[in-house]
Amino acid sequence: MIKKIAVLTSGGDAPGMNAAIRAVVRSARSYGLEVIGIHEGYKGLVEGGENYEPMTRKSVTDIIARGGTILGSARLPEFPQPEVRERGIQQLKEHNIDALIVIGGDGTYAGAKRLHDHGIRVIGLPGTIDNDIAFTDYTIGFDTCLNTVVESIDKLRDTCGSHQRCAVVEVMGRYCGDIARSAGLATGAEFVVTNTDNNDLQTILEKTKTFKEQNKRHPFIIVTEHLFDVHDLARKIEDYSGYETRATVLGHVQRGGKPSSYDRILASRLGLAAVERLMEGESGVCLGVQSNQIVATPFEEVIGKSKNLFEEYDDYIKLLC
Ligand code: F6P
Repeated sequence: MIKKIAVLTSGGDAPGMNAAIRAVVRSARSYGLEVIGIHEGYKGLVEGGENYEPMTRKSVTDIIARGGTILGSARLPEFPQPEVRERGIQQLKEHNIDALIVIGGDGTYAGAKRLHDHGIRVIGLPGTIDNDIAFTDYTIGFDTCLNTVVESIDKLRDTCGSHQRCAVVEVMGRYCGDIARSAGLATGAEFVVTNTDNNDLQTILEKTKTFKEQNKRHPFIIVTEHLFDVHDLARKIEDYSGYETRATVLGHVQRGGKPSSYDRILASRLGLAAVERLMEGESGVCLGVQSNQIVATPFEEVIGKSKNLFEEYDDYIKLLC
């Protein structure tokens, strides 16, 4: 029987992580469990000391609407090293922690799997704006990020329309096109460039030339990060198509802000489910949502898998532009 659990956030922060922490703490307390919040992700887990904070219902008052993570997040590239991991396991034992909930992305799960392989009970929750976790339709933070991206592109549309300019907008997503495709469909963009489709330079240039021939006033091209230097791409589009072109990199603004209702609800459901499943003896899995049902998938089936849930949006964008 578990009496004491810990929760940490790791990797890039995502709106809704606080709602997940709140759900973990509140549900655990409702079930009579003690809860430790571990600050600064795996780094804090290994270092111990003040990074281990006992949490009460009050510790999570008024955080459901806050972006970021009150526990902080850090990347610890050394965690795979056996001696570093062993220090972490010792810390968990010294604090009498029976089970752990980690909230983050793929790298977070890799760390969690290592702990699970060493006998620590652990469940992962998908917290990342990228939506790049294979087993879940949505990750905590994606919906809020998408709303931020859409709002920004709507604003760009005002100015690009006024000047008859082509806009190249770089969005995050790591190697997943979900943010780009969803934003493309939601903003009526002309073309979306992701790592799984027509992302060669010549295709993009030809597209923009066609938009010019069609007399499109201000075409929008949304590009997933890591594929192009978008400022350079904008110059090439300008030369080839004749459109005056501006590039905008939305950057880390995409990670901030109040979580949307959807992210708060998803985070609350998943946080509660994680506590209940740990109490039922489940471990070594990540929780996610498929067709609005909570599902559990073993870490090894999830880590390193790619996902492009919204590939069909490319066709819709083509037909609607
Ligand atoms: O994984 C979330 C994410 O925001 C990615 O979209 C992006 O590639 C990366 O993190 C940026 O990381 P950092 O904040 O370390 O620059």
